[in-house]
Amino acid sequence: MYNGRKVICILLASGKGERFSYHLPKQFFKLKDKTILEYTLTNLSTVEEIDEIILVSNSEFIDESKNISRHFKKVSKVVSGGRTRSISSRNGVLSVEEKNSYILIHDAVRPIVTKELVRNLLEKVEETGSVIPCIRSNDMLLEVENGYFKKVIDRNHVLRVQTPQCFKHEIIYNVYRERSEEHLDYPDDSSIVAENGFKVKIIEGDTKNIKITTKYDIELVEKFLEKGA
Ligand code: CTP
Ligand code: MG
Repeated sequence: MYNGRKVICILLASGKGERFSYHLPKQFFKLKDKTILEYTLTNLSTVEEIDEIILVSNSEFIDESKNISRHFKKVSKVVSGGRTRSISSRNGVLSVEEKNSYILIHDAVRPIVTKELVRNLLEKVEETGSVIPCIRSNDMLLEVENGYFKKVIDRNHVLRVQTPQCFKHEIIYNVYRERSEEHLDYPDDSSIVAENGFKVKIIEGDTKNIKITTKYDIELVEKFLEKGA
């Protein structure tokens, strides 16, 4: 609970992990003793403010997802995802029954999600109704055209976007309810909220909160987890 509202986390685990090249979707890849999905569920479960977790799973892997989620008592249900990340998000959000809630939407492949980050998001969500964590890029950023240098992008105006993203129920629920599947292909949840004219507040993200995308990310995540992240 936070501010008298229930806190519900939609955990997106319905992707296929094509860039990761493993025989199962990357959320089922084992780091030491546990799958990535189990690490993420473990870390989210320890955040006292989170009351409920709704797991969004690929329908082909629903049994695997249910077997894992059975060990986490905050998981209230497992729902099927869709063709795109936005459709998976929508399926999760529309399955929420509690209107008096804050909704966190998180990528299952970001296992290093901390209490501090979730608290920082919740602290700001009353202000605008939508809050996202972002970090700066350390690399120079470049706009390219047909494989050639076009112009340097001013890094003060560009940020890397992370999850969890936090919304008041009424904002995210209404935005997704009004969209049909063919118009749901966004890279994250804040883009559709912003497109609907809502303000999205930005807070400082966490550089350790990496999204496991390719096999190269594994070593780093294992190092962070060894140190107790
Ligand atoms: N996701 C989802 N439903 C989809 C696509 C993605 O729930 N149709 C989830 C993924 O499971 C992941 C998160 O969204 O937790 C971020 O997506 P990404 O890192 O792109 O994962 P995948 O789509 O699985 O990977 P890839 O793009 O390499 O296939
Ligand atoms: Mg993807």
